[in-house]
Formats: sequence, structure tokens, C-alpha cells
Amino acid sequence: MSPNPSSLYDDVADVLISQEAIQQRVAELGQQITLDFAGSEVLMIAVLKGALLFLADLVRNVNLPVAMDFLAVSSYGAGTSSSGVVRILKDLDEPIEGRNVVIVEDIVDSGRTLDYLLRMLRQRHPATLHVCTLLDKRERREINVPIDYVGFEVPDEFVVGYGLDFAEYYRQLPFIGVLKPEIYQ
Ligand code: IMP
Ligand code: MG
Repeated sequence: MSPNPSSLYDDVADVLISQEAIQQRVAELGQQITLDFAGSEVLMIAVLKGALLFLADLVRNVNLPVAMDFLAVSSYGAGTSSSGVVRILKDLDEPIEGRNVVIVEDIVDSGRTLDYLLRMLRQRHPATLHVCTLLDKRERREINVPIDYVGFEVPDEFVVGYGLDFAEYYRQLPFIGVLKPEIYQ
């Protein structure tokens, strides 16, 4: 598949969450994290590539000493659903033992990716381990994973934008939307 070369926006059927709503909610999440971790340092770990834009905006709303690190994962299996077998493409640069870790995710769908990551990171003995996801597609949950901070709940539809891709495209859209059905075919 390839996106419309004249305008990505022409491929969008519906905007589910506007740019303004995202920016406002991300600011609230940053303020909440600032309050919850007052007096401590936080290591925010983004799961690449989807959480990249979210992390970038989120940290600008966190008024604490923040360090950032990145994990890249790929789930074995088909394009729009995850199998739960997660392959680490890029591991963290630094140990997390004794640190306050917040995993930053773009979306929690079945919960399999997050479940795997939580189990992996717990074995490294962080002082605390929390999860912040921009989107929660709760209807699709197969594994009950603890989530501390949720931006928005979304319906069971394949969404793109603000970091989320379809076939690696559309990540740069500043809103969350759904594509026209013909794009997904
Ligand atoms: P899970 O393991 O099923 O929870 O899937 C999590 C991952 O699947 C996310 O980090 C996304 O990369 C991808 N994903 C799930 N739903 C969507 C969607 O609606 N749009 C884009 N990516 C999605
Ligand atoms: Mg993805």
C-alpha cells in the first residue's frame, strides 16, 4: 500500500481525536505525572516507534528530572493484530535497577506486548514501574495489564496518527483518525 502522494489528509475518513484534544490531554498527563513523582527522578521509556511523538510532547509537560530511553519491539504475526510473542529489536541503553520507570506506549490493544515488556522489565528490578498509554483499546484486551495513565479510550477500530502507523505510514498526522476503507484493503 502507499499513501496518497498529493495529501495524506485525503486518506483520512474520520478524525477521532483532534490535535487540540490530544495536546490538552497530554498536558494533563504530564501534570499528573509531575505531581505523582514529586521529589523523584523518572526514567521514561518509549516503545518505538509508535510512542515517539507522544513521549516528545509528554516530557515537555513533566516538571521533574526526566531521563529517556527507548525500546523497539516487533510482534511476530500479522499486520493489524499481535501474537504476544515479542521480539526485542532494540534494548534499553541503560540499566533500570532502582529507578522509577514509566513505560510510554502509543496504544494498548490485546495487552500482549505490554504484558511481555512488564515481565521483562520487572526482572531488572526497577524501584517502581508504571505505564502511561496514549490510547486504550479496552474492548480488545486479552491480557489484563495494569495501566496507570490513559490518554483516551478508543473503540475497536484501526487508528492512525500521532505516532501510530498503518504499514509505517501516517505517523505524522497530528490527530488520531481512521483511514478510508479502501486504504486498508
Ligand atoms: P497489543 O500487543 O495487541 O496490545 O498491541 C500493541 C501494539 O499494536 C501497539 O503498540 C501498536 O503498535 C499496534 N496497534 C494496535 N492497535 C493499533 C491501531 O489501531 N493502530 C495502529 N497500531 C495499532
Ligand atoms: Mg505499530
